[in-house]
Amino acid sequence: MSDVQHAETPDILERQAEFRQLMGLFTTGVCVVSVAAGDDSIAAMTVNSFVSVSLDPMLVCWNLQNASSQFDIYAGAERFAVSILARNQAELAQRYASRGDHGMRNDDFARSAGGLPVIAGSLGFLECRRWSDYVAGDHTLIFGEVTGLSNQADPGEAGSPLGFFNGEFCGIGA
Ligand SMILES: Cc1cc2nc3c(=O)[nH]c(=O)nc-3n(C[C@H](O)[C@H](O)[C@H](O)COP(=O)(O)O)c2cc1C
Repeated sequence: MSDVQHAETPDILERQAEFRQLMGLFTTGVCVVSVAAGDDSIAAMTVNSFVSVSLDPMLVCWNLQNASSQFDIYAGAERFAVSILARNQAELAQRYASRGDHGMRNDDFARSAGGLPVIAGSLGFLECRRWSDYVAGDHTLIFGEVTGLSNQADPGEAGSPLGFFNGEFCGIGA
């Protein structure tokens, strides 16, 4: 039996739902990945698959669904930014989690020193140069080498982060 036929059985669908629900209990922060999409336009997507990978060289990774309507924009971008969202940015996170052009609002963005669009008022952001990618099932891991970064807050005074738990935005920590 092929994988495709197997994946269509009710048993597998049930197990996938269970897997999804269980992974939803793994609390994460929330980021927005943004790219300059040409002629001054911006593409931005809310993600929670962001992870720090390596210190030397400085590498990060996020996971893009192959079915994304904007797959080519993100997978093809030579440079991208990752902004770490603050607790008060749930509405913004929801906006950039909708399908298509995500109701882009230019006033959500500032420009990084390297010229990338980043989320204004986020806890901090990284500027990345595409390093490699790896197709993993129905997603593609996108690795970036960190070329610039900004902590918006002074050390020890980082603001409160936005979290995602069990399918809902939440606060994390005190
Ligand atoms: C909290 C949260 C985290 C998400 N994380 C990811 C992610 O890591 N990778 C991804 O491809 N989509 C992620 N999404 C979905 C995208 O934000 C967006 O909804 C999806 O790409 C649909 O739009 P598109 O088809 O136009 O890309 C996440 C959504 C939410 C609400």
